[in-house]
Amino acid sequence: TAPVTPAGLDPDVADNFAFAFDIDGVLVRGGKPIPEAIEAMKVLNGENPFGIKVPYIFLTNGGGKFETERCRDLSRQLEIDVSPGQFICGHTPMREFANKYGTVLVVGGEGEKCREVAESYGFRDVITPGDIIKANAATAPFRALTESEIKNSRDLLARGGKMSDIVVEAVFVFADSRDWASDLQIMLDIAQSKGGRLETRSENFDEGPPIYFSHNDVLWSAAHEHVRLGMGALRKIVETVFEDVSGGRKLKTHAFGKPQVSTFEFATRLLQQWRATQHGLAESEPPETVYFVGDTPESDIKGTNAMNEKSKNEWYSILVKTGVYQAGTEPKHKPRKLVDTVLDAVNHGIRREM
Ligand code: G3P
Ligand code: MG
Repeated sequence: TAPVTPAGLDPDVADNFAFAFDIDGVLVRGGKPIPEAIEAMKVLNGENPFGIKVPYIFLTNGGGKFETERCRDLSRQLEIDVSPGQFICGHTPMREFANKYGTVLVVGGEGEKCREVAESYGFRDVITPGDIIKANAATAPFRALTESEIKNSRDLLARGGKMSDIVVEAVFVFADSRDWASDLQIMLDIAQSKGGRLETRSENFDEGPPIYFSHNDVLWSAAHEHVRLGMGALRKIVETVFEDVSGGRKLKTHAFGKPQVSTFEFATRLLQQWRATQHGLAESEPPETVYFVGDTPESDIKGTNAMNEKSKNEWYSILVKTGVYQAGTEPKHKPRKLVDTVLDAVNHGIRREM
């Protein structure tokens, strides 16, 4: 449907409530749409007994691609037009750090993609684990770079100088690691370094740069019948092994994404803009109720409930049974409503409102 101008209020739009969706385990699993998700989008787009359109956004902890690419994938999977104006992924909030740091290490994702995403966010000097291995193959004894990795990696020593001239000011794990062993080694090397200086060792192990993960999901729902290990598992390993190699010092890393309340606040701002540009609603006011539909109690439900506590508007958590949460078990964080699929979630929210 064509967007309405901010001046013209869309007459059939729900102005007091909206939906926000988690993606993996709710709408998509292993790259394929969950069938009820396609139907749920139709209901939101007006195919409901009231003929109303309900504004919605997407809030995933996943990432590893440009937001525009993720939106193209989702558009194809859900048979709708998804705009970057209604989409937040795990690394989206990292863009706000682009001016804070000079040289950063970006970890995770396919090929060079996350370097490109980080540069598009405005990060000025992005190095990757591949660059470090290319400069010193002894960094990761069991990792041989492929020809294309060698070709695409930067030459860190091109202008002369030594590895220890390079200072990593922060580490950002943008997406899931494709090689946990070498990424772990390199992150731990940097965490133990003298202020982020490559190939140095701190005496006290207390001067490494900050390490940011784009989310903290230990588990997520992909194509396999059982849940898979996610970035939160790598985060735990980094912190635990750091303690072992540093004589018991603690490493405190940071995580963006759900369940952080700041991520839900970011989502509120996006939803307000989206309601204004797409539906002609006033940008100054968020909807009275946001229904958040997720599959992971530890991130989706915990975060929505925490946001509900903090916000003056209502955030209503709905847990589905198509992903991480296993039917019949007691969810660690209790949703306001437990349903089978995202279609039931959408119908529940609309019925509660109308
Ligand atoms: O890596 C992605 C995964 O951990 C969660 O994605 O869409 O369920 O937030 P999502
Ligand atoms: Mg999920």
